[in-house]
Amino acid sequence: MEKKPSEIRTTILGEHGALRRRLAGVEARLASLRQGDSGARRELRAEFDALCAEFVAHIAHEEAILRPVLADIDNWGPVRIELMDAEHAAQRQRILALAQLSPDADPAGYDQGVRAFVDDLRADMEAEERECLSPDVLRDDTTSIDAFSG
Ligand SMILES: [Fe+2]
Repeated sequence: MEKKPSEIRTTILGEHGALRRRLAGVEARLASLRQGDSGARRELRAEFDALCAEFVAHIAHEEAILRPVLADIDNWGPVRIELMDAEHAAQRQRILALAQLSPDADPAGYDQGVRAFVDDLRADMEAEERECLSPDVLRDDTTSIDAFSG
């Protein structure tokens, strides 16, 4: 059976929660490195790789379950989908670029890239929760309502 919009919302928000826990783990390693704990370098890489893998799976899942629902939820569906697709394409590109960074050859550049990605990912999830995942957008009643004009 197809999931209801509210169930999709719960699923996606649950994944965001898991991603935020991963972000916190990556940030903790970055902080340890700044404090001179060089042993955190290996852990940072492992945690960042795990974050990226989980994130790539997450956006594929959003495309599979959220995208079809956004398409006809209201008049802004096509705009929301366009933004989501552009965002996900940019994020996939960025992960590919980050995968080229070497924590051994350029630790400072690597840490900076990880830091920037973590900050942007957190901001992107917040924006997505406002624009695509709010209870006003993902509602279970079948009548299509234009949430913007009333
Ligand atoms: Fe998301």
